[in-house]
Amino acid sequence: MKLISCTANLPLAEAIADYLDAPLTERRIDRFSDNEIFVRVNENVRGEDIYVIQSTSYPANDTLMELLICLDALTRASAQRITAVIPYFGYARQDRKTDGRTPISSKLVANLIASAGADRVLTMDLHAGQIQGFFDVPTDNLISAPVMEEDIRKRFEVKDLMIVSPDVGGVVRARALANRLGVDLAIVDKRRPRAGESEVMNIIGDVAGRHCILVDDICDSGGTLCNAAAALKAKGATRVAAYVTHGVFSNGAIKRIEASELDEVVACDTIRQRDDDLKSESHRVLTVAPLLGEAIRRIANKESVSKLFD
Ligand code: R5P
Repeated sequence: MKLISCTANLPLAEAIADYLDAPLTERRIDRFSDNEIFVRVNENVRGEDIYVIQSTSYPANDTLMELLICLDALTRASAQRITAVIPYFGYARQDRKTDGRTPISSKLVANLIASAGADRVLTMDLHAGQIQGFFDVPTDNLISAPVMEEDIRKRFEVKDLMIVSPDVGGVVRARALANRLGVDLAIVDKRRPRAGESEVMNIIGDVAGRHCILVDDICDSGGTLCNAAAALKAKGATRVAAYVTHGVFSNGAIKRIEASELDEVVACDTIRQRDDDLKSESHRVLTVAPLLGEAIRRIANKESVSKLFD
């Protein structure tokens, strides 16, 4: 088994390599003067079972293109089986036609990844479960819930907690965590008047006097979580924290969160966080490297991946 990483999140790739006690394969990734990407794999990979680690995070088109070109290089270098390890799958939110004459970009990107040479995909907390079916190759969609559960149990009195889904679309994910912890679930009825803007219509559940934990797959602008936190506090919640798998945190999201009613946001390291954001006291990072490493080990050894979540 061999591991190779593109450039989106080297610290995560190194942590996975440490877990597996396997070095990252030497490679070169350069840009030509017009920004075209060039990849050279500097080691023999002929006949290898190889795992390419790359989140298609900001800048989404560059990181995606790096992944595609790396997959092509490995295919042409006669790797025997190539698994695209995509901790954060960008474009996931474009998973349906939202209007006439609009694309389903998640499907297009999934097709590109398979066409470029991925024989399998390993990813985490896809925005919607059905995106797994967009990949025409076997795809494992891990959940970060065990990592969040462990952190929550370490830090809080579980009996005081209430898990909250920040929108109706996230109920399955939030309920799964609430069930693992054995606590109640509340739901925020969110509306998006325009793309990138969110508005809270209602809270389903009695949150008065409760310590609420919002659970979401993505925090991008922070609007969803900040608005939800304000609505929860207005209904009497004593403290509101948030756990998200993918901290996109675009356009000063962490500053917005610092100024909001949200007491803390905890994100997994599927996306490399900006150094400035890491200094914030309202922001913490949990690592999913052991979980991804263990899933890779199991795939390589033909063991069950779902057993990881029993
Ligand atoms: C949307 O359905 C997702 O699950 C997230 O709630 C959304 O992407 C968060 O975006 P923002 O932080 O910009 O409100």
